Amino acid sequence: SISALPGGAIGKDGYRHFMEKELHEHPLVIGQTLQRMIDPATRRVVMPDLPFDLAAIPRITMTACGSAFYAGLIGRYWLEAEARIPVDGDVASELRYREPPLAKDGLALLISQSGETADTLAALRSLRQAGQHVMSVLNVSESTMARESDVVLDTVAGPEICVASTKAFTAQLSVLACLAIAFGRARGSMNESREEELVQALLDLPGRAAELFALQPAIQQAAAMVADARDVLYLGRGSQFPVALEGALKLKEISYIHAEAYAAGEMKHGPIALIDRNVPIVASVPSGRLFEKTASNLQEARARGGRLLCFTDQAGASRLGPLAEQVIALPDVHDFVAPILHSIAVQMLAYEVALLKGTDVDQPRNLAKSVTVE
Ligand code: G6P
Repeated sequence: SISALPGGAIGKDGYRHFMEKELHEHPLVIGQTLQRMIDPATRRVVMPDLPFDLAAIPRITMTACGSAFYAGLIGRYWLEAEARIPVDGDVASELRYREPPLAKDGLALLISQSGETADTLAALRSLRQAGQHVMSVLNVSESTMARESDVVLDTVAGPEICVASTKAFTAQLSVLACLAIAFGRARGSMNESREEELVQALLDLPGRAAELFALQPAIQQAAAMVADARDVLYLGRGSQFPVALEGALKLKEISYIHAEAYAAGEMKHGPIALIDRNVPIVASVPSGRLFEKTASNLQEARARGGRLLCFTDQAGASRLGPLAEQVIALPDVHDFVAPILHSIAVQMLAYEVALLKGTDVDQPRNLAKSVTVE
């Protein structure tokens, strides 16, 4: 479990920053979070007692801020594809004022590390007022959002000290993946063998995530490609698109380099005009259903002089090798859980870039861990 110093203070355990320590806690935190949601005997996802029937939920409205929102976007791909349930969503500061029409007996899905973010809390209250069931994915179980929710799904990430979220993000993803499986079963859209396959993929994750740290020297080398840039473009398709958003956010937050994330297929509708040797492109592109399409987008970028840094897997590495300046092959995992592993990789990259820039990694300028004003 997460260690504490005498008196309850949290130390860096010999790491240079809390961020570095928290990055190394990913495997532990994913494992602990999954333990809460997967019965080791039956290897099935178990939900806490619910005051409503999952099968009767017609629609989900997901909202959050910052990294937590990107976790929710990845969750949306899983919920829609695996559980066949419609998920609408927006950042909390927008959702509240959009006045979206809500389904009767729909589910509001809130995601927050702190459980105190003012925008998310305000959105929770307005969704509850509008008659939605309220489910929150939270890391602080005695928070305000926890008290005001019908159901809380706990991320077991332990205290997160670095302002930029890392381990709480993958813990949120672990919960959301389990939620998609639970919904899929309840709605009859996922058969038992698919559930077994996805549960196995999740249970394999802590081991694969631990192997990621062997890539630290390669990521450090890749960071040099990014550190001198003024602008960086992050690309991904499908559930890797929110990984690109998370990677770009982390880079902005801790290295102060401007970064923008785009759905890889949308690049040709605008950002391709920016591409030249001075704008490195970070692509998250595991082999799988969307690999060829993404690779051809990267080919277009390459043809315009773009310098590519590709995060892929063993199978993708040989195909991307000729295109990219740097290829980093992550451990092979099931497509379903690939965005979890890839988000750790882009977080590690942001950390290495920030080290090169010499910024205050744990306390970036102008940012706060918990934002309690709207
Ligand atoms: C702040 C933090 C982010 C975080 C966001 C949402 O902006 O700097 O790292 O993602 O708040 O926080 P929450 O506690 O609701 O997850």
